[in-house]
Amino acid sequence: MNAQQKRLLLPIAILAVGLIALIGTALFLVGGSQGGRASAVGGPFSLVDQTGARVTEASYKGAPSLVFFGFTHCPDVCPTTLFEMSEILRKLPKDAKISALFVTVDPERDTPDALKSYLSSFDPRISGLSGTREEVDAMLKAYRVYAKKIPTENGQYTMDHTAIVYMMDKQGRFVNALNIQQPPEAAAREIQKLM
Ligand code: NI
Repeated sequence: MNAQQKRLLLPIAILAVGLIALIGTALFLVGGSQGGRASAVGGPFSLVDQTGARVTEASYKGAPSLVFFGFTHCPDVCPTTLFEMSEILRKLPKDAKISALFVTVDPERDTPDALKSYLSSFDPRISGLSGTREEVDAMLKAYRVYAKKIPTENGQYTMDHTAIVYMMDKQGRFVNALNIQQPPEAAAREIQKLM
């Protein structure tokens, strides 16, 4: 393969990854909107929050919740989404009962302490959940989250992952994917309908 062919490969690879992510999201949304199948997203989990406390799905029942999966080394999508989530939370009444969870797809690097320091840049109501690889994988499966390690040139790795903000009702049932592109006031109104 000559140098010109090599230069062409990277953009093609990036395009392919983008397309796969897009198709995955589209399939997920179609699946989620088919009435009865929506309840197939979510379920029991057992993880540790950023304070080191053991938490399960029962810890968050009684209030609607936003659940987002990502990792602290994420260069763009995760910090942007957490920033948007923080803006939305700020539009809710101060005493609003709401849970907001950032669940790591990279528990090897995202220990509770790492999550605690990372989340200090965002709304304090966002909890960071981690656990063993097995515990995290069980939740990824229940929420139908795609996450894959991608080695980088420096011997490190990045994660390719689903970037949906799941909106769950008071009973912990999946409602829909929250559109964070809309103005934060509009997103906050959507959440308040579940309270
Ligand atoms: Ni990310």
